[in-house]
Amino acid sequence: MPDAVTVVGQGYVGLVLAMRAVEAGFTVTAVESDAERLEHLRAGRSYLEDVGDEQLRAALDTCRFHPVAEMPGGGPATIVIAVPTPLVDGVPDLSHVRAACGAVGARLAPGSTVILESTTYPGTTEELVLEILERVSGLRCGRDFWLGYSPERIDPGNAAWTFTRIPKLVSGVDAASLERVRAFYERLVDTVVPVSRPREAELAKLLENTFRHVNVALVNEFAVLAHALGIDVWETIGAAATKPFGFLAFWPGPGVGGHCLPVDPLYLSWRVRLTADRPFRFVELANEVNRHMPGYVVDRLTAAFNLRGLSVRDRRVLLLGLAYKPDVGDLREAPALAVAQRLVALGADVRVADPHVRPADVPLGVTLVDLDPDALSSAEMVVLLVPHAAFDLALVSAQAKHVFDCCHRLTGAHVEQL
Ligand SMILES: NC(=O)c1ccc[n+]([C@@H]2O[C@H](COP(=O)([O-])OP(=O)(O)OC[C@H]3O[C@@H](n4cnc5c(N)ncnc54)[C@H](O)[C@@H]3O)[C@@H](O)[C@H]2O)c1
Repeated sequence: MPDAVTVVGQGYVGLVLAMRAVEAGFTVTAVESDAERLEHLRAGRSYLEDVGDEQLRAALDTCRFHPVAEMPGGGPATIVIAVPTPLVDGVPDLSHVRAACGAVGARLAPGSTVILESTTYPGTTEELVLEILERVSGLRCGRDFWLGYSPERIDPGNAAWTFTRIPKLVSGVDAASLERVRAFYERLVDTVVPVSRPREAELAKLLENTFRHVNVALVNEFAVLAHALGIDVWETIGAAATKPFGFLAFWPGPGVGGHCLPVDPLYLSWRVRLTADRPFRFVELANEVNRHMPGYVVDRLTAAFNLRGLSVRDRRVLLLGLAYKPDVGDLREAPALAVAQRLVALGADVRVADPHVRPADVPLGVTLVDLDPDALSSAEMVVLLVPHAAFDLALVSAQAKHVFDCCHRLTGAHVEQL
């Protein structure tokens, strides 16, 4: 196996992988097209919660970590592609994958192994990636280079399940490719799980995300129905979770964000519609339910003000958390953003406390504040949307007049649960 590794895309997936590869003794070229991110990498300033500045600087100090703007040439390497796979108008946008494959193909040295890590619909590696690499490079897969797919399962902000501890699914377009992909990840993670073809690995990743998406939607709908019936949904789920088999607890919230839940399953439903001319009804329904949640939270807040003879207009509302999940600053598809924007549209004076978010990322009409006694006591409603570990919930409980808790972390007569 070549000791040279190239990681294309230095985001949540690519940078974590690059750091681990340096640690494992590889020489890593980190290709990043975003000039600002590249500058940060070169200066040893991390833009991710899961990678510390010290770790980044230690990687630079080894002289085996080279952040660059463009795909390098040179000898054989293991090349990992970890670029975004967003949706545009509800349709998979593989332009980043195409561009990355084009750049890799143009510099592909015989003897290299290419691995796609981006989440995508089944068939991408064996159809799209293979075709671009062969066409652009003029090389033959299985003879001159090898190709595989390995979905990334990292959970940013999760200190227990880190990159090395999460079992890694690996696959190859042929047996030789699988062996190379497997050998590479065996140097990086504790457990490697081979899958017979890339399309099974691609679909496994989408099944994992769809499973969570559908179950979160189920409990979110449960939360709405339980409230209408005057039943405590949190106690209900906790009670059901005492069953030692056949039940897995998921918890309600203000909606879902990031890419894994609201975006990735749509890659599958798009593919199913295109190839089999069928709807993927579970995904479509889960999307509808989860997308409704920020609006439902605002409806409940409006009702809470109404009960006190107040309208939302001009009320000061302090939102705790804007990111899509605890302990990260990632705002992609964050439901708290939708809550904030709806409240602004209703004329509320919206403040938000989120230690992970930069002021420049806060939506128009919203003020970013520190979580301190003054911010809490001056708010007419405090809404716990994201339970960041950094939040002092005892302070929230002591200083807030009214709390709407979407995360079931607070108790008291002044607290209303989702
Ligand atoms: N974030 C997660 O928790 C997570 C978990 C598992 C899987 N994934 C999947 O992994 C993939 C990457 O996700 P991410 O969260 O790391 O995205 P990201 O947006 O954080 O990072 C991707 C990086 O790739 C760069 N990039 C785009 N095109 C490029 C190109 N042609 N050459 C070089 N750099 C390029 C972007 O500038 C960006 O910095 C996606 O398919 C995503 O769905 C993400």
